Amino acid sequence: MTRSSKRPRRLEYMGAMAAGLAHEVKNPLSTMTVNLQLLAEDFATPQSQVEERTLRRAHLLLGEVKRLDGIVNDFLELARGYEIQPETVDLELLITDLLRFVEPENERLGIRARSLLAADARLVLADPKFLRVALNNLVVNAQQAMAEEGGELLLETRVRGRLVEVRVTDTGPGIPPDKLEQIFMPFWSNKQGGTGLGLPMTRRIVEELGGEILVQSELGRGTRFVLSVPKLPDQLPPATPDPTAEGPGAAERNGGNPA
Ligand SMILES: Nc1ncnc2c1ncn2[C@@H]1O[C@H](COP(=O)(O)OP(=O)(O)OP(=O)(O)O)[C@@H](O)[C@H]1O
Ligand SMILES: [Mg+2]
Repeated sequence: MTRSSKRPRRLEYMGAMAAGLAHEVKNPLSTMTVNLQLLAEDFATPQSQVEERTLRRAHLLLGEVKRLDGIVNDFLELARGYEIQPETVDLELLITDLLRFVEPENERLGIRARSLLAADARLVLADPKFLRVALNNLVVNAQQAMAEEGGELLLETRVRGRLVEVRVTDTGPGIPPDKLEQIFMPFWSNKQGGTGLGLPMTRRIVEELGGEILVQSELGRGTRFVLSVPKLPDQLPPATPDPTAEGPGAAERNGGNPA
């Protein structure tokens, strides 16, 4: 009893420590950004090779500091949880817009993108900003998986019970079966320049929205991520009062649904 109750407290402690560390890192990072910007301004019109090199290095460091700051922000958000504000979201608009946004990169990489959107799966209860981040993470992963040989990217929606599924399928190299759980661990990445925060963020967002995320993959054939979010409850026609009825009417239409 005493042994098992220590573990969650230890995890909580580690989480607070990691978040505190990340927070502390942010101040020096912003000092570095300001000073590197000033340095770059001083050498904006280089008069010699040394000055030119200095300017190049200042820009390189600015890029790295920006990357670090982005990682720290993602990490802090992931550690704290997201402030999700669910509202009615039109998935068709969101997916069409997302595909339009990633089209130039698809073209560059030789990826053909398609969508198959079910009419009855159009409206969901979600936070549009975070749902877009979650879907974008999956689409970017699919693009990166197909970056070498091109391929096909398919986005589908369909209703499953009280949820709507969004399936993101690629024809990339696939994920080895023994890695299928690990890919959701923070900082697990096999990409150069990858941070390994995309999938843990996506999972956390989806779970906070009341849905789930699953992955299916076959080596050499491709990968499918299935993300689901609550479907907007069907609109019932306005109740017409029944003059013969007595007592309270059907009050709990939606009883049992978590808020
Ligand atoms: N569609 C996919 N096909 C093949 N492997 C994938 C796919 N999606 C994710 N993975 C694997 O899962 C790992 C973790 O993905 P995740 O999005 O969390 O991090 P990342 O893409 O490496 O970095 P980041 O998203 O932080 O830039 C990837 O490095 C990759 O090995
Ligand atoms: Mg990623």
